[in-house]
Amino acid sequence: MRIVVTAGPTREYIDRVRFITNASTGLMGYRIAEVAVSRGHRVTLISGPSPLNSPSGVRFIPVTSAEQMCRETLRCIEDADALIMSAAVADFRPERRLEGKIRKEDKEALTMRLIRTPDILTEVAERKKRGDMHKVTTVGFALEENIEETERAKEKLRRKSLDLIVLNSPDAIGKETSEFVLITPDGRTRRMRVSKRRLAEEIMVFLEDAS
Ligand code: CTP
Repeated sequence: MRIVVTAGPTREYIDRVRFITNASTGLMGYRIAEVAVSRGHRVTLISGPSPLNSPSGVRFIPVTSAEQMCRETLRCIEDADALIMSAAVADFRPERRLEGKIRKEDKEALTMRLIRTPDILTEVAERKKRGDMHKVTTVGFALEENIEETERAKEKLRRKSLDLIVLNSPDAIGKETSEFVLITPDGRTRRMRVSKRRLAEEIMVFLEDAS
């Protein structure tokens, strides 16, 4: 299979040296890419800034912002069989990126307006619905404070027309082992405490069975 994996955080610049980001390390997506290559798949890894090294045998596309990640993902899935969106895409960005560095001068406070970034999985879902895309199996992640509560993840799976969603919590960030719940469109849930490598294998088995 030809598989596109997204990983890591995105970075939304405020001025030349400052940006908004999140705590994602990219570990999940890099593990998925590594496991997918070891199972003989052709893998493109689109990653936001991460300290990790791209696994060998992967086509690596580094990106910075949500908009760049969106553009590259839509381009790369044109000839892919599956998309795994494990990136922690920033939902908001500063409306304008200021030139140079903001000086504090005599400012007591600073107000910044944030606007929505594109939701990549929603863009993919809309293209699928319009029928102007070949079949791409899509896997999403849902980061929720409480993984006992599966309703929001199920709603995301429906809203984004996903084939599989992996529910996890902020505890999983940067850790090798954590608790995950796999949810399919038929409403079935499978909860597991496993390493990210093991979870990557579970996702691959799902994709291989679905193809
Ligand atoms: N995602 C995306 N584009 C965005 C934000 C998120 O494609 N701009 C993807 C993520 O990669 C993940 C899934 O959507 O696979 C769910 O991300 P999550 O942050 O849990 O949910 P959101 O849909 O952003 O909703 P909310 O932040 O309101 O919980």
